[in-house]
Amino acid sequence: MPHDQAFWLPFTANRAFWKSPRVITGARGHYYTTDDGRQLLDGFSGLWTSGLGHCHPKIVAAVQEQVATLDYAMGFQVTNDKAIALAREVATLAPAGMNKVFFTNSGSESADTALKIALAYHRARGEGQRTRLIGRERGYHGVNFGGLSVGGIPGNRKVFSAALLPGVDHLRHTWSPADMAFSKGQPAWGAQLADDLERLAALHDASNIAAVIVEPVAGSTGILVPPIGYLQRLREICDKYGILLIFDEVITAFGRVGAPFAAARFGVTPDIITTAKGLTNGVVPMGAVIVRDGIFEALMQGPEHVVELFHGYTYSGHPLAAAAGLATLAAYREEDSFARARGVEPVFEEMIHSLRDAPNVVDIRNCGLMGGIELAPRAGAVGMRGFEVFLKCFEAGVVIRNGGDVLQFSPFLDSTPDELARIFDTVRQAIRSVA
Ligand SMILES: Cc1ncc(COP(=O)(O)O)c(C=O)c1O
Repeated sequence: MPHDQAFWLPFTANRAFWKSPRVITGARGHYYTTDDGRQLLDGFSGLWTSGLGHCHPKIVAAVQEQVATLDYAMGFQVTNDKAIALAREVATLAPAGMNKVFFTNSGSESADTALKIALAYHRARGEGQRTRLIGRERGYHGVNFGGLSVGGIPGNRKVFSAALLPGVDHLRHTWSPADMAFSKGQPAWGAQLADDLERLAALHDASNIAAVIVEPVAGSTGILVPPIGYLQRLREICDKYGILLIFDEVITAFGRVGAPFAAARFGVTPDIITTAKGLTNGVVPMGAVIVRDGIFEALMQGPEHVVELFHGYTYSGHPLAAAAGLATLAAYREEDSFARARGVEPVFEEMIHSLRDAPNVVDIRNCGLMGGIELAPRAGAVGMRGFEVFLKCFEAGVVIRNGGDVLQFSPFLDSTPDELARIFDTVRQAIRSVA
């Protein structure tokens, strides 16, 4: 096997990839440079990561300075100044009453960390029987065993099915095309879908349930926007039964829905929020789990010299990542990025929905600067049409993403109407060319 093809790419059709590799060698602002010298307009902000644009000068400078000042410091029983400062900034941005921040290195680690904190919390309060975790069909919480178990994307679960966590169940998903196709923003229909939690509470007995984890807007499954009132209803049912509500905001935090968190945008405060991606603008891998004060306090028991939560990563609060995070949060503030994203949203909404009449389009969904165009699958080849559109756009100089036959969009928080027009013109032509 040739060593120049030693790299096993994640979530990639590897054999097809190496027949015509797509290799990025540089980036600045809203554009990538490829190894064959082309400029590509990035319509996906990295991988939902880089809302401020690539190689943001202030983030680059902060990381450069940090690497020459403190490269790494032990993270257990000792920490570094940047991690402390970043936790303070994240807590300041978080909903009121959520003031404790646990650092991870990815969204997957954030999901597993949140689930473990939920289990530990109940046990610390003498409710150790609350072990059942509830996810949702079509949910994505990364690829580690916890997140995979509560996740609900069949293709991700299939091969690992027998090794998934026991005691997990799933709410039904919230997509019902007959009731909500082509909704702009939040569908008006569907708040009652949250009542599915009542069904699971009755089935398993609510006293056995530790937590429910959902993405406020489901991303990787193809942009499923919560029906109006759905998240509020979920919160009410969790409160009724003492179940913790976890929002997986790995995508939705830090401006993607025009607010610091989806919790703020939808006016629903969960008990735990998981983040990653936009925390550092994707510059250095990092995630953060933000926890309601009472959860942390419940765990602060026993002799003071004993570790309270047996969990953590060598790189939790890594100084380079924390420096990138501090510069990123400062840039969001200075550039008023969240309000800007909110300002771009109506233009984005109008443009994405203008593709309604393109061939094979069966639904269009959007919220904040997240958007999905669902195409009818080719007979006998699910995902093929979406992949072809992705390739056509790439060849035409625009990067989007396809999750199966759902084309996905995640433009920069300060996208211009001209850039959005170029993205959607390119996509329209690509859809036509593969019709
Ligand atoms: C909602 C959500 N949770 C978790 C993850 C996993 O993040 P990572 O790939 O950084 O492990 C993702 C990644 O897209 C995500 O969208």
